[in-house]
Amino acid sequence: MGRRRFLDVILGGGITALLVGIVYPVFRFIIPPEQPEADASRVVAAKTSELPPNSSKIFKFGKDPAILVHTKSGDYRAFAAICTHLDCTVQYRDDLEHIWCACHNGHYDLNGNNISGPPPSPLAQYEVTVRGEDIIVSKA
Ligand code: FES
Repeated sequence: MGRRRFLDVILGGGITALLVGIVYPVFRFIIPPEQPEADASRVVAAKTSELPPNSSKIFKFGKDPAILVHTKSGDYRAFAAICTHLDCTVQYRDDLEHIWCACHNGHYDLNGNNISGPPPSPLAQYEVTVRGEDIIVSKA
């Protein structure tokens, strides 16, 4: 193989690899791989050992985020974690002991009721059951 032919092969291979590197991610974005649908009616949200009182955990409930709160008094409460104002993900503020949306300073109490700020309606509440170490959240 001559020097010119060798360089043609190396250059052709490099261009081919570059095109595959560009086209493949675009293709995977346009046609994403099939994902099995998570059971959206019941999920083990956390273990009791990972959630001390006055703390929370964001978990995936189906394809949406949800929030599990372990209140200071020892109750577990779970809500949809999507703010009813403009769909930001809410979080638990342990200093305020309620749920807060950082996007526009929306506040929800521990029953999910909108108590201050722009959210127009309460968060959807889920049922919580503790079975052994598992904290199970299900739709009512
Ligand atoms: S999106 Fe939550 S307060 Fe606006």
